[in-house]
Amino acid sequence: LHRNLGESVTVAAEDGSHWLLLEWQRCILLKGQIMAYLMGIDVSTTGSKALIINEKGEPVASVVHEYPISTPRPNWSEQNPADWWEATVHSIREAIEEAEITAARIACLGLSGQMHGLVLLDKSDRVLRPAILWNDQRTGAECEDMARIIGREHLIEITCNPPLTGFTAPKILWVKKHEPEVYDKAARILLPKDYIRYRLTGAIATEVSDASGTLLFDVPGRCWSEELLQKLQIDRRLLPDSFESPEVSGKISASAAEETGLAEGTPVVGGGGDQAAGAVGNGIVKTGAISATIGTSGVVFAFSDSPKVDLPKARTQTCCHAVPGKWHIMGVSLSSGGSLRWFRDCLSQYEVAQAEFRSIDPYEVMTEEAAQAPPGSEGLLFLPYLTGERTPVIDPDAKGAWVGLNVRHTKGHLIRSVMEGVAYSLRDSLEIMKEMGIEVREIRVSGGGARSSLWRQIQADIYNHPVVTTTATEGPAFGVALLAGVGSGLFSSVEEACEATIKVVSETKPTRENVEIYERYYALYRGLYGALKETTQGIAGIISSAKKTT
Ligand code: XUL
Repeated sequence: LHRNLGESVTVAAEDGSHWLLLEWQRCILLKGQIMAYLMGIDVSTTGSKALIINEKGEPVASVVHEYPISTPRPNWSEQNPADWWEATVHSIREAIEEAEITAARIACLGLSGQMHGLVLLDKSDRVLRPAILWNDQRTGAECEDMARIIGREHLIEITCNPPLTGFTAPKILWVKKHEPEVYDKAARILLPKDYIRYRLTGAIATEVSDASGTLLFDVPGRCWSEELLQKLQIDRRLLPDSFESPEVSGKISASAAEETGLAEGTPVVGGGGDQAAGAVGNGIVKTGAISATIGTSGVVFAFSDSPKVDLPKARTQTCCHAVPGKWHIMGVSLSSGGSLRWFRDCLSQYEVAQAEFRSIDPYEVMTEEAAQAPPGSEGLLFLPYLTGERTPVIDPDAKGAWVGLNVRHTKGHLIRSVMEGVAYSLRDSLEIMKEMGIEVREIRVSGGGARSSLWRQIQADIYNHPVVTTTATEGPAFGVALLAGVGSGLFSSVEEACEATIKVVSETKPTRENVEIYERYYALYRGLYGALKETTQGIAGIISSAKKTT
């Protein structure tokens, strides 16, 4: 069929019947019915997912392969791009097998991934050092340098974001300063999903939503900022070209086709950073639509017609949306699902064993225990700043804490307090958005925080707003599969793709008596960071002086 691109042909099916096939781009019209599939890939912090959906947006295959994360020093966070590629290859191969389709029927592919990570390639396109990730906090000094060189306000004017340790530019400056021999060899700077794009297509490209998280991008103008590049002395040639998210950025190469089982020539659209992509997959493409997503990080995400910024503090991030010509605002908590995962890994051996015995997910056992504790966890407050924090405090040295511990507290209270602390931290972002005049009409929840009815209820009660879930449960991979649908012409716009494929399936309303309890505890939660600041700064000081002497 690929030899007949753009032509219509009559073919005989195996049962002897004859069919008129019309290829339009790569969507096959079969007796008037579109038989195209779309693939979305999400290179997340924990693993690489390959999702295949049909033209109605229904998932037909979804495969994830995980990879490790390394913390060579406290506050550092790195991954090996080769691990992303290996996991992606396996996920793609198995997804095609699971879908029981020939790869040629995948009309188009979209890429999503963890934002802000720094991948450096040399002139032969070899990876120069492990990727430095979004939740790495080593670049406090470089953020200060950026604020000094550019001027904090001017930097926010250009990029719509403050200098944040997790963003890409301070990482580039860190490598320049601390590993000059590596930086001298750098010929390309890529974001995580764009490294996978390079491996799939050979194209060196990115798209506007992910580029917005570099602190080198003119977010209102949707292009690289020549001024920033010049002032920070970063060569423009190191950076990829930037596309709008649904635009085709390259095609599957012959070698990638061989490795992954995809068809050579399959187009690949720009895609999106995981948050913008996840938001598309959740239908956050119009005013008033907000999402609260709990993955490793926790993100409150609002659509915007213009690049609105939380001035003067810039506690939230403003980025280009994956919808062409639109923007989004997000409040980011660094350790949301990450806090519960930490609890599982460090403190839940019993629950993990129980789960194995009952063949269920350990989080289910943990949630059952949490449900035994009452709303407010009998006065136990958890501050989820396990990897520093962005919104609302912007402090890489912020630390997690339990406050209010009492002998009455059981493990159930501890687990529930973690779930509540995560929801309080997302409420902080919602409050800032309300201050910014952003309309909050509907809150769509997704990720791990939407899976259990308990965490959904906790969120509804703490936000004091109903929360809804949608048919879309595949996260960013689904969003970029829809963008691929737009890029291949299957849908005429991102809005149309969402309208055609995403439906609301559940609503959880706040319970009045719980809301009252949570309002009182939230008022106390808001004071926790300030109350502990002197202590957490002292801890950070001791740790960094210990690091210098080792
Ligand atoms: C967003 C952010 C995280 C990462 C990893 O700014 O840092 O959401 O993209 O998920």
